[in-house]
Amino acid sequence: MRTILVTGGAGFIGSNFIKMMLKKHPDYRIVNVDVLTYAGNLGNLSEIDASENYVFVKTDIRNRDAMTEIFKVYSPDAIVNFAAESHVDRSIEEPEIFLTTNIIGTHVLLETAKKFWKIDSDDKYSREYKPGVKFLQVSTDEVYGALGQSGLFVESMPLLPNSPYSASKASADLIVRAYNETFGMPVNITRCSNNYGPYQFPEKLIPLMINNCLQEKDLPVYGDGMQVRDWLHVFDHCVAIDTVLHKGKDGEVYNIGGNNEKANIEIVKLIINTLGKSEDLIKYVKDRPGHDRRYAIDNTKITTELGWKPSYTFEQGIKETIQWYLDNKEWTDNIATGDYAKYYEKMYSNV
Ligand code: NAD
Ligand code: TYD
Repeated sequence: MRTILVTGGAGFIGSNFIKMMLKKHPDYRIVNVDVLTYAGNLGNLSEIDASENYVFVKTDIRNRDAMTEIFKVYSPDAIVNFAAESHVDRSIEEPEIFLTTNIIGTHVLLETAKKFWKIDSDDKYSREYKPGVKFLQVSTDEVYGALGQSGLFVESMPLLPNSPYSASKASADLIVRAYNETFGMPVNITRCSNNYGPYQFPEKLIPLMINNCLQEKDLPVYGDGMQVRDWLHVFDHCVAIDTVLHKGKDGEVYNIGGNNEKANIEIVKLIINTLGKSEDLIKYVKDRPGHDRRYAIDNTKITTELGWKPSYTFEQGIKETIQWYLDNKEWTDNIATGDYAKYYEKMYSNV
């Protein structure tokens, strides 16, 4: 049996990933380490609670002793590191936790993995690791910075992050790269575009707009709404990560994108029209500081070298996602009554 340590598995992408992995690889054990911040929700995983191959450990990836204990008890063969502070707007309000979780947390995981995975961990010149081990860092296209009207992100581009969030993710990528170069650790880094789909926390564009639309609340569009993102369905992303985990060449970076470039305002209007609401709900508000204008991914490397390709069109994916939020109002209602209500009030009360 292979054991995969998934960090941040109670969040949006991590929970979708764990559920997919348990179905796809019934002989694997998944150990989910999550400290349960505002974004972590065990309700996302209720359908697999009873699974024999699934273990949840509530702890912080920055806690060295706890990570050592997890390695001692479960001997993971691979780590998929999703755990992060993930929201750009929050990183503008409070950058520091992005640095500690996203950078230091990743380093604690790397260091612990090196100790347990290296055949001779006391020999700094040895580059020999236990067979089959892998550290997979889930990163973002935002590390490349912003694009103009044309061009696509390719893996060889320099990292030019613009927000505290993307700067922290870029820093983590560089530490992961260094562990491969210096210590020979088998690693991969994946850089995906904006995800959407079931269980996404309603602070992000798509679920926020669906949720507000359903309540006929203002739809806060930053600036002119013409910023472009390249949308990737979370199920396609999870399959891509599984593909890299099994087929990725050690030390390589893989971009993951859905070939779905859309301006924010197009998405907002599509949600309004699908839900049969009025475009009068749109409220153009002050732009986000340092707002990246356009992201778009060239996914040639993963499609040609590893054989993955996205299966969702945006039209299909957004239809299913809107339906999911309609069918799971209780899930959003539970979130909206907690800390999220305070966050929303703080962010959008005077824009
Ligand atoms: P999320 O915010 O929904 O979930 C993050 C999870 O990490 C939560 O369950 C949280 O409790 C956990 N966590 C936070 N700090 C932790 C800590 N110190 N120790 C243990 N657990 C901790 O995020 P997401 O949208 O699922 O994103 C997952 C990963 O994918 C992140 O690394 C993010 O940078 C990356 N990513 C996300 C997107 C996207 O569109 N959502 C796009 C590109 C990359
Ligand atoms: P977001 O979901 O926060 O993802 P990211 O900033 O990581 O791309 O935002 C997606 C786009 O939507 C981004 O251009 C900012 C914009 N946006 C709004 O216009 N209004 C909002 O209320 C939010 C949350 C985002």
